[in-house]
Amino acid sequence: MSALILWQLNTWILCWMNHYKLQQVLCVVPTFKFHRVLLAASSDYFRAMFTSGMKESQQLCVNLPFLEASELEALISCTYSGSIQLNWGCVFEISCTALQLQFQHILSMCLSFLEKEMNAHSCLDVASFAEAYGMQELLETANKFVLRHFQNVATTPKFQDLPANKLRKYLKSNSLLVTSELVVFKAVAVWIEACPSKRLRFAKELMKSIFFPLMTDNEFKEVKTAKLWTQCNTKRLYQTILEDFHSYYIAPRTLCRVYQPKDSLVLVGGDQISADLSRQNPSRELWFGNSLKSYIGLVKNVEWRLLTEMPNPPRLSHDVAVLAEKLYVVGGQDYSGRLNVLKSVYRYDPIQNSWERLADLQEKRCNFSIVVFEGMLYAIGGDSDPETNLKSVESYCMNTDSWSFARPLDMTLSCHAATVLDGKIFISGGYHQRYRCLTSMFTYHPERGTIYLADMRQPRAYHCMETLHGHLYVAGGITLDEDKTSIDQLTCEVYDPVTDTWSAFTNLPIPHVGAASVVLEGMFYVLGGYFKDNYRETRLVHRYDPMLQFWENMGVMPGPNTDIRACLIHLPNHLRKCQNI
Ligand SMILES: *[C@@H]1O[C@H](CO)[C@@H](O)[C@H](O)[C@H]1NC(C)=O
Repeated sequence: MSALILWQLNTWILCWMNHYKLQQVLCVVPTFKFHRVLLAASSDYFRAMFTSGMKESQQLCVNLPFLEASELEALISCTYSGSIQLNWGCVFEISCTALQLQFQHILSMCLSFLEKEMNAHSCLDVASFAEAYGMQELLETANKFVLRHFQNVATTPKFQDLPANKLRKYLKSNSLLVTSELVVFKAVAVWIEACPSKRLRFAKELMKSIFFPLMTDNEFKEVKTAKLWTQCNTKRLYQTILEDFHSYYIAPRTLCRVYQPKDSLVLVGGDQISADLSRQNPSRELWFGNSLKSYIGLVKNVEWRLLTEMPNPPRLSHDVAVLAEKLYVVGGQDYSGRLNVLKSVYRYDPIQNSWERLADLQEKRCNFSIVVFEGMLYAIGGDSDPETNLKSVESYCMNTDSWSFARPLDMTLSCHAATVLDGKIFISGGYHQRYRCLTSMFTYHPERGTIYLADMRQPRAYHCMETLHGHLYVAGGITLDEDKTSIDQLTCEVYDPVTDTWSAFTNLPIPHVGAASVVLEGMFYVLGGYFKDNYRETRLVHRYDPMLQFWENMGVMPGPNTDIRACLIHLPNHLRKCQNI
């Protein structure tokens, strides 16, 4: 219980104090003293109390029987200082009080703490809190966090207190991210063992959400030796699971765990070479990866769906970018008929499912890179025809729908890769003056120009570069052998901007020349391309997981393969509904 004493106003407090009758200071029980006006300014609850003619508007002392003194103290000190010390020990109590007394500003500080600081130990608490107070957005954020960090969350003590219906929901979700079915089994086992007498009856149903045939023999050995089976009445359940595991050979080939990432990987345009290499077939198609599927025997693939087609012409060697939730398709070349390098630019709005033509580039450009930098698009270098590499850079301003030249590069450059890290544009490799393949790495600034950094260990062009965990990963493309002939580049390198050094990481299993790339949920995807060796298309998708340090095969491309571009974008829900198998 708390009581609040309303202090006399000092003249320095807010100018609209005249609205309120000035009050005298009065001492009652040793409690809190507070300036009435400041209280009214920070809390809708108190503003209503003081201005609505309630009896408290005349009183010098207000009783707040539902409040803990410590919480009130924190709110008061925050109202005066504008800042509040939040930690997991107090944030829920303070949020509740701020909510009850309608301290909007403090409440939003608490909510931002809950969202930003959420971790495996606190996310389930955040979810319960959000649910109890009907905060839909926070609840969604917390639930997504639980699902994406399920492996860690399942080892926390809080997880063992989860009600059965909540656990069931998480296990059935298409956003449950697990590296193996064993993770799911361990979670269920831990949860049951926390209170076997009450929870064994859920075991059969919960085990149904685990795809046992997808486990390896070693994984199943761990299932076999689980403590759970020492409980009585688990014999039959174990038998069922064992049979399920052994149904490996008869399980439908469609049996898989489906995972839907938050954002969708979108493939844009590109080329398809006919099987006899006689004909090119540039594309207008946009495909998106709706879900990732894990099948028996570590087989994985992407569930591709056709999103839309871009307006004519079809294009390859273009580039794409996402700005303000819209997708930009810029330049490139159209090879149907004769070679034609493009200036045109289109924007796709996934919500309206509509295309819009924008201002043309100043220069025809293909084999270039686009980055989003300080709210603008930058189109960097490229080729304007097979004889001319470009040095120029142009920027696109959304508000004026116009392209203007920025400071040019130091040299002509095409088939390079560019990406942004920590507010800097990094550019690696590429060709200078027609087929001089480079080892260079530099930062480019639209006003300040170029700063050269450590060279890559080998020349590289027509490759991919992506930002991941504060590092820049390069993969794919071509390199030069001792005779300066271009050959497939399988070696991969990662750049550390802190030490300005390159180091090798796991080689790609096959060449990806002219491939597309994105980073999706912490993994580096390299998509399609071709073999320099024989010009056959690569057709495969590989992804690199820096934790596991290997390239996983993620199945095949849905259509076009080469000179294709990819990006991540948030697509509306109606496009993403899962057909559950
Ligand atoms: C784009 O780059 C590829 C690969 O180097 C090349 O074959 C093609 O001619 C280039 N396009 C133009 C217009 O220069």
